[in-house]
Formats: sequence, structure tokens, C-alpha cells
Amino acid sequence: MRVVILDGAGDIGAFGAGLILDGVLQGRIRTLGVATGSSPLAIYRALADRWIPALAHLDAFALDEYVGLPADDPQSYHSVIRREVTDRLRLDPANVHVPDGCAADLDAECERYEATMAAAGGVDLQLLGIGRNGHIGFNEPSSSLSSRTRPKTLMAATRRDNARFFDHPDLVPRHCLTQGLGTILDAAEVLLVAQGAGKAEAVRAAVEGPVSSMCPASVLQLHRRATILLDEEAAQQLALRQYYLDTEKTRIEGLRP
Ligand code: F6R
Repeated sequence: MRVVILDGAGDIGAFGAGLILDGVLQGRIRTLGVATGSSPLAIYRALADRWIPALAHLDAFALDEYVGLPADDPQSYHSVIRREVTDRLRLDPANVHVPDGCAADLDAECERYEATMAAAGGVDLQLLGIGRNGHIGFNEPSSSLSSRTRPKTLMAATRRDNARFFDHPDLVPRHCLTQGLGTILDAAEVLLVAQGAGKAEAVRAAVEGPVSSMCPASVLQLHRRATILLDEEAAQQLALRQYYLDTEKTRIEGLRP
């Protein structure tokens, strides 16, 4: 795991956007896995500021969607991805995929979504946030570490955390469709972003705890190319904080005897 600790949202946006733009320019990133929520917003905005025509050719796959919210509901992830990703990065809407949480057969929809991802050649870089309970996508604690896209029930704590986006807490859907942990591990590269002290315990468990379904993000310890992008507050419980800072310094300065 590469753990990068930065000063704040501005630096996180610039670092994440730089990583993605390099990959796009090198032809390594053609398909982006996109997350909703607050964490990736600084990266989407920095990408919009530094927009290059090659971005418009990206395919994008969302991590998840609520069950029962129509695509045109402002809080559906169809709408959030359209506002924050498709429009800002000027992607072709035909190349942006979000699972349909209103499908008549939700299991069949999840299978269709996996097949569409496979047909596109898989995700080259998957952006992730992390829940305070350690979820990635909506893989709540106890999710199978090899799970695929499927319907899931949201934990009460996740619904409370996401209530800030809705007019009333009761309006937060109870169920979702989410890429599984196995699906996320299939991405060639993953970039997880966490900001704020509220994420510090989940980040500690994900990076330095045991690999366990009780902290779903800990499965990223098994990924060969996982970068964890943190602000100081989110990094405050890491035992090896100084080591991660030293390692990044070495990347910049090079190895020295
Ligand atoms: C979003 C998603 C979630 C969020 C997580 C953190 O598509 O799948 O895992 O990334 O809940 O949310 P924020 O960034 O709002 O704190």
C-alpha cells in the first residue's frame, strides 16, 4: 500500500488529479471507477480545472446506487455522477454507467452490470471513499471479501451519515446495489481518499489492522496497486505515520545510501 498524507483538500485534489491525468496521458487509464459522496469531490474539481480532451474519451463505472430512487431524483447516484463527473469532465453520457436501482430484477441488473464492466475490459483506476464503519462502495462490515455486484442492506449508521444529503433522515433508502469487494479488487489500480478525524479509526483499521470483513476496506491490503490519500486528520491514528511520510520523501528525493 502507498499511504500519502497531505495538508488538505486542495493538495488531495491536485495529487489525485495528477495521478489520473498521468495515467490517461500514458494510455494506462481508459476506464475510471467513480465514487460519490464528499471524498472524491476535490479530485473531480481539480480534474475539471486541468481538463484535457483525452478525459472526454473515458468510460466510467459508478460504485453503487440506491435501490428505489429514480435516475432523475437529485439524490440518486445517477444524478450525482451526472453532476459531479459526467458534466464536469465532459464525458460522453453513453459511456458512463451506473447500476439501475429501480430495475424489476435487481439480481439480474447486478449480473448485467458486472458483464458490462467485463466487456469494457474492467476498471483501470477505481476511486474510493471510506465509510466511518470501514465500508468501501456500500460493502458494509461482514461483506464477503470476494463479493461481486449485488443488492445490500445499508447499516443504520451509514443511513445516518448520508442523511445530510436528504431533506429528512427517513428519506435515505434502506437498500443499494454495490460493486462487491471482489469487483473492486479486480480494478488495475485503486485510489482511496479520506479526510477528517471522523475517518481516522476506519483508516487505521483499513491500513494497519488485520484483513477482515469487519473492516471491508482492509481488503485493499491484498491489492498490488492501492494508494491511500489522506489529510492529517484522517491519518492521525496511524502508528506508522512518520514512516509513510519518510517513504514519500524518498520517492521525491530518490534512494540515498
Ligand atoms: C460512495 C460510496 C461510499 C462513500 C463513503 C464515504 O459511492 O460508495 O463508500 O465513498 O460512504 O462517503 P463520504 O466521502 O461522503 O464521506
